[in-house]
Amino acid sequence: MVKTAVMVSGGGTNLQAIIDSHIFGEIKNCELAAVISSNPTAYALSRAEYAGIPAHVVDAGRYTNRASFSEAAHRKLSELEIELIVLAGFMHILGPPLVKAYQNRIINIHPSLIPSFCGPGYYGLRVHEEALKFGARVSGATAHFVTNEVDSGPIILQKAVDILPDDTPFTLQRRIMEEAEWKILPEAVSLYCEGRLELDGQIVRIKGARDDGSAS
Ligand code: GRF
Repeated sequence: MVKTAVMVSGGGTNLQAIIDSHIFGEIKNCELAAVISSNPTAYALSRAEYAGIPAHVVDAGRYTNRASFSEAAHRKLSELEIELIVLAGFMHILGPPLVKAYQNRIINIHPSLIPSFCGPGYYGLRVHEEALKFGARVSGATAHFVTNEVDSGPIILQKAVDILPDDTPFTLQRRIMEEAEWKILPEAVSLYCEGRLELDGQIVRIKGARDDGSAS
C-alpha cells in the first residue's frame, strides 16, 4: 500500500473524488494516510473527517514566505512517512527541496490541457477566463507530476472537455471538474500506486495501457 497524502486548500471536491473512488475500490494499493490543508477553515478538512482520514493543517498564513511554508509541509510529510503526495485544489507552489525529495512522487491536477492555459498565475477561474478569451473550442484537465517549473512536469493523463458557446468561466470550471478532473485524478493516483507509471524523461509510459493509449 502506498502511503498517500492529499494536500488541499479549499472545498475539496477533488479530494472527495479520490475518497469516493477509493471507497469503490477503483484506486488500488493506496492508503489515504493524511489530508494536509494549507487553510485552517477549508471544507476539505470536514470531508477528510467524515471519511475517517487523519486531517492536518499547515497554515500558509502563518509563514512569511514560500520556502518556510514548504519546509513546514515537508516536516509534516516526513513525520507521517508519506510516499506519494497528491495536490488536489492546492493553491501553493512547493519549494525546490520538497519537490526534489519527492521527485516523481507528487501528482497535481490542472484544469486545462497542458501546455495551454497553464504556468505561473494560471489558477482558479483565470485559467477558464483565458481559454474563453482565446476562443478555444476545447479545454480539459491534466494530471501530471510536479517539477520546479509550474505545470511543466511529465503528463500522466489528460481529458478534453468541449467549450460551449454560452460558457462562462464558472460553467466551464464546473464542467471541467465534473467531466475531467474528478475522473483523471483518481485514475492517475491508482496508476501510480499500482506501479504502472514508467518515466522516460518527460514521457510517462503506462504499463498495460491499451493500444489507443487509454489506461485500463
Ligand atoms: C478548481 O478550481 C479546480 O479547477 C482546481 O481546483 C479547484 C477545485 O478545488 N484544480 P477543490 O478540489 O474543490 O478544492
